[in-house]
Amino acid sequence: MIRFDILTLFPEMFQSPLASSVLKKAIDRGVIRVSLFNIRDFTRDKHRVVDDSPYGGGSGMVMKPGPIVEGIEHLKSTNGSARVILMTPQGMPFDHNQAKRLSQYDHLLLVCGRYEGVDERVREYVDDEVSIGDYILMGGELAVMVVIDAVSRFVPGVLGSGVSVLEESFANSLLEYPQYTRPRVFRGKRVPEVLISGNHRQIAHWRRKEALKKTLVRRADLLEKVDLSEADRLLLEEIKRGDRKTEDN
Ligand code: 6GU
Repeated sequence: MIRFDILTLFPEMFQSPLASSVLKKAIDRGVIRVSLFNIRDFTRDKHRVVDDSPYGGGSGMVMKPGPIVEGIEHLKSTNGSARVILMTPQGMPFDHNQAKRLSQYDHLLLVCGRYEGVDERVREYVDDEVSIGDYILMGGELAVMVVIDAVSRFVPGVLGSGVSVLEESFANSLLEYPQYTRPRVFRGKRVPEVLISGNHRQIAHWRRKEALKKTLVRRADLLEKVDLSEADRLLLEEIKRGDRKTEDN
């Protein structure tokens, strides 16, 4: 069981992603819990102001520290200790290992930044800053959904039995091998014969080779990080000797 509390100016953005598919089932089963809180509810002024112009000038608005910090303090005091995560393009890059690390906590408090930024003094109240990639989003809301999805997959009981997150891509730093289902021939394209052979040793060998091939063609950077076996190295040599300019050979 993991609990996600979200501080955002746009709680309505979360409705449909949380109401569908695997996440909804996980919520219904009580394996994960998601609660939304509007930062505006932690303002104390009549006009419920959450942003203001930047000191020193410049375009755009900056989120005021008060409502965010009061929100964090309120949720920490009512819901127990939480790991506080500020969503910002300046954060640590979010990846497989970060998702796994965050899944170890019982309670994450995710703070969505908006506008051109957040007052720097908020950072004192935050444990981690997380970014989901090198591009700028309008706000942290979509990034929070990405984090909840990826983290939840590591929480026991979220995925159906039989699905091992550890076997997947990036756990061992290779892209996944190609998958096929019925029909056996689709618009003239056949499923590779080996997959129909029933020879499990050959299938495993083919899949490993295809995973290595796909990784070499698309993400050679990942091959630097992974521990390759002697058999893998031989397979890679074999692949490199063949034509790897096209993806479908
Ligand atoms: Cl976490 N927030 C925003 N606004 N933009 C991003 C991001 C987060 N991660 C990548 N781009």
